[in-house]
Amino acid sequence: MIVVTGATGGNGSEIVRLLNERGASVRGMVRDPERARGRLPAAVELVRGDFDAPETLAPAMRGAQTLMLISSADPSLPDRELAAVQAAKDAGIERIVKFSVIAADHEPTFGFGHWHRPVEEAIRASGLAWTFLRPNVFMQNLFWFTDPIKSDGVFGLPVGDANVSVIDTRDIAACAAAVLSEDGHDGQAYLLTGPEALSFQQQADVLTDVLGRSIHHEDITPEEHKRRLLSFGQSEAYADAELELDAELKAGELGTVSDSVKRLTGRPARSFRDFARDFAREFRPEVAS
Ligand SMILES: NC(=O)c1ccc[n+]([C@@H]2O[C@H](COP(=O)([O-])OP(=O)(O)OC[C@H]3O[C@@H](n4cnc5c(N)ncnc54)[C@H](OP(=O)(O)O)[C@@H]3O)[C@@H](O)[C@H]2O)c1
Repeated sequence: MIVVTGATGGNGSEIVRLLNERGASVRGMVRDPERARGRLPAAVELVRGDFDAPETLAPAMRGAQTLMLISSADPSLPDRELAAVQAAKDAGIERIVKFSVIAADHEPTFGFGHWHRPVEEAIRASGLAWTFLRPNVFMQNLFWFTDPIKSDGVFGLPVGDANVSVIDTRDIAACAAAVLSEDGHDGQAYLLTGPEALSFQQQADVLTDVLGRSIHHEDITPEEHKRRLLSFGQSEAYADAELELDAELKAGELGTVSDSVKRLTGRPARSFRDFARDFAREFRPEVAS
């Protein structure tokens, strides 16, 4: 039995779906099983578990052998996931696959690496078997900008013309499903990236081509980006982590391309053009019927 936390999230729900397709026994840990029921395959067991109520975590894991640990990008991520690692030990889990981040791969960490790295260290020290998935920036983050792209054909990030090997979350989920279903991944940390490093203007050029209307990337200042994040209701701590990541990105630190998706899934990682074609409707202005 594999317990997947964050099972209603963007990555968790896809991992659950792929594991279910492979015939694995899957349990989704969710805050609200009733709300989650319609969003996940019927064969998937659902159990209530809340990272902010640590006493619910071990009962949610009991009887399972493997934990797929995912939680939101939130300043409380270290506390939440450290509690989950302890609960996994208490519940008799044998193996943890942790959804981490590219920025956790070295010291000093930056951006969201500050949140993930201590959890990776606790898992290494736990005595349990482990695998870390360290994805680069998601292609799906562009959904944050669907409104300005639809209305003005523009999205703003303070990253200049640096290249980043963005990855499609569908590929991350496919890697997770492979790692969770097969032997041979213990003690491995996989850097997960797309097949090429593109600047955000190059991504805008692909969108222009696919959508048939002009899209461009605006190089805003970090201050402006922070102001926008706060106005969307993000916390100060989240905004600061995002700006650190942007600074690393701008310095060209997130352009490495790995072949992990191909090695783990047997097929090449989806390109940004694949993503743009598959989700073109998300970026097209609605046409009144
Ligand atoms: N964005 C990027 O480019 C990027 C790149 C690399 C790594 N990452 C990492 O990706 C992870 C986020 O993955 P995602 O985008 O798939 O997440 P997501 O879509 O934001 O989903 C978060 C999940 O966590 C659940 N959750 C939230 N608070 C909870 C709580 N207190 N107790 C139990 N469950 C709770 C949510 O459940 P509800 O349905 O109940 O809300 C949801 O299922 C983060 O760790 C982030 O650092 C992000």
